[in-house]
Amino acid sequence: MTRHVVVTGASSGIGAACARAFAKLGDRLSLGARRTDRLEQVVPGALHQALDVTDAGSVERFVAAAIAAHGPIDVLVNNAGLARGVEKIAEGTGEAWREMIETNVLGLLEVTRRVLPQMVAAGRGHIVVIGSIAGHKAYAGGGVYCGSKRALQPICEAIRLETLGSGVRVTSVDPGMVQTEFSSVRFRGDAERAAKVYQDTRPLSADDVADCVVFAATRPPHVDIETIVVMPTDQASPHHLHRGGR
Ligand SMILES: NC(=O)c1ccc[n+]([C@@H]2O[C@H](COP(=O)([O-])OP(=O)(O)OC[C@H]3O[C@@H](n4cnc5c(N)ncnc54)[C@H](OP(=O)(O)O)[C@@H]3O)[C@@H](O)[C@H]2O)c1
Repeated sequence: MTRHVVVTGASSGIGAACARAFAKLGDRLSLGARRTDRLEQVVPGALHQALDVTDAGSVERFVAAAIAAHGPIDVLVNNAGLARGVEKIAEGTGEAWREMIETNVLGLLEVTRRVLPQMVAAGRGHIVVIGSIAGHKAYAGGGVYCGSKRALQPICEAIRLETLGSGVRVTSVDPGMVQTEFSSVRFRGDAERAAKVYQDTRPLSADDVADCVVFAATRPPHVDIETIVVMPTDQASPHHLHRGGR
């Protein structure tokens, strides 16, 4: 039986790779992001719906459109997220802090709270959260981004506790460095600075992370993969990276 899979932030990177991976399995897809023109190129036959997770009205319309198009949601991939800047806390700006917390934490909650009741009522469903190694270990210049990803851990734990007995599963997939548009967004479009992040090292690809998401989502219903931490072989922590090849 095919599933209805919803992916937030499906216009690039990990979200787009997840959408393509589930499409290969024949699943029905509802894809959301602010850049809807990009969504259409990711999986042509899917529902493409504008979504800004920081706007409650947009989230409401997105979830309603997804259910209208493809019925009850089986898998929600909470992927939309970003880091903005590398300022130390003493140099930071409220604007960037708010953007990260509103997107990565509050946005994820706004989507999840609208999907969970339907999953509980159906007696099945899978909430996947794209966390980060940044949620396990902080780094200088990443305090608020790391905090926003750390916050997802107790949120996942609480959902597991609150839905125990309902058949709902909750998985956090927490990658190390992945080559996507992430650094370009973090450095506000500075392509040269973004490219340096991945220079002379071998990061994960978005497809590597999508593999982990699909693995978790294709276990039998009685198996809940709680957390997958996936790192490039050349990365041992957020700031321990091998560069220069072997
Ligand atoms: N790349 C890494 O090294 C890495 C490592 C660990 C975890 N992650 C996490 O992986 C997730 C995906 O990031 P990525 O690496 O694939 O970066 P990316 O290529 O920049 O993709 C980010 C996606 O999030 C969407 N998005 C951002 N703000 C949004 C909003 N307000 N509403 C809806 N969608 C929004 C973007 O779409 P629009 O701009 O079109 O809205 C885009 O599709 C993020 O949660 C990130 O924190 C990334």
